[in-house]
Amino acid sequence: ISWDAQAAQKGGFTHFMLKEIFEQPKAVADTLIGRLSDNNQIVLDEIRMSAAEIKDLKKILVIACGTAYHAGMIAKYAIEKWAKIPVEVEIASEFRYRDPIIDKSTLVIAISQSGETMDTLMAIRHAKSSGARVLAICNTNSSTIPRESDAVLYTHAGPEIAVASTKAFLTQVIAVYLIGLHLAQVRGVMKDSQVAQLYYEMFELPGKIEQILETVEPLRTLTRSFAQSESVLFLGRNIGYPVALEGALKLKELAYMHAEGFAGGELKHGPIALIESGTPVVAIMPAAGSLLAEKMASNIQEVKARGAVVIAIADSPLAAADYLVRIPATHEFLQPVLSVVPLQVIAYEMAIARGNDVDQPRNLAKSVTVE
Ligand code: G6P
Repeated sequence: ISWDAQAAQKGGFTHFMLKEIFEQPKAVADTLIGRLSDNNQIVLDEIRMSAAEIKDLKKILVIACGTAYHAGMIAKYAIEKWAKIPVEVEIASEFRYRDPIIDKSTLVIAISQSGETMDTLMAIRHAKSSGARVLAICNTNSSTIPRESDAVLYTHAGPEIAVASTKAFLTQVIAVYLIGLHLAQVRGVMKDSQVAQLYYEMFELPGKIEQILETVEPLRTLTRSFAQSESVLFLGRNIGYPVALEGALKLKELAYMHAEGFAGGELKHGPIALIESGTPVVAIMPAAGSLLAEKMASNIQEVKARGAVVIAIADSPLAAADYLVRIPATHEFLQPVLSVVPLQVIAYEMAIARGNDVDQPRNLAKSVTVE
């Protein structure tokens, strides 16, 4: 490995997780850099597919576990929208025990920070035995999953020590964006100028993450006031839905609280029964002005009418929320890279407020190499 010993130290931060949250601007920039040629082509030679093979693709199947699975869900929204290829996303441990309909026209994308997760490894073996090509997105050089895959796109998050994944997740999301744009370009469904514009917007993300990190103190104070809550609900819509799931997973992992993520539209079909007076609800607002932002504002009204206290993560003012965490505006499909950051901070702060071990949460392992 090319990491030095110092990179694996806490560097003045109280916990590895906090350090890793603050390393996210650099991790994102490092993963993005050098991916656009002078003639506006996304450069992704590592995926080792010819233009003809990319044009022949019929389906993409993303397999992963835990946080990486949420990056896979984001991949579905972005790749289908940009490259117009159907994308399925599946939890690796489920995938390997069914008979998937895949063949050589299917590209399987396996996402794993460690590259050693047994469930994901067994899933790629299963996919390969069915004739599919496997592309790994991985943060760990020469680990088992990349070695057993046909191709690998490495993320450049650097060593991630805290069990709960933060910076690796952001770089996985960047990697799937790059893949989506590359496939779109090769298949001729997006103009080079559109692709280049999105790439440049991505390059503004590190600075925007920094802005969020500079203003998290009030959020940390607010989080502590909810430390005794029984459960926390997260709402998202569209590409914000996987972000809601990730916010809930982080809180479970670190704060040992009941937390669930829901699609805003699904509230009325059951989850709204969970709302009691004082239940904290974190709403990930879609980009301002979009139809979905209006829908989410109605969802906020619905839960508030039942007594919920709403913390909105939004790129513009929002009268309906009790508390607002402002994030900078960006392209609607890039928003997860920003909206997840306050959720990481909430989970981190809640863990501290509840006296938990942030970097080594109970019952969890950084890399699960057993089934
Ligand atoms: C473990 C970790 C999770 C992680 C998952 C997948 O369960 O506790 O934080 O998301 O493994 O890990 P991977 O290395 O495959 O991304």
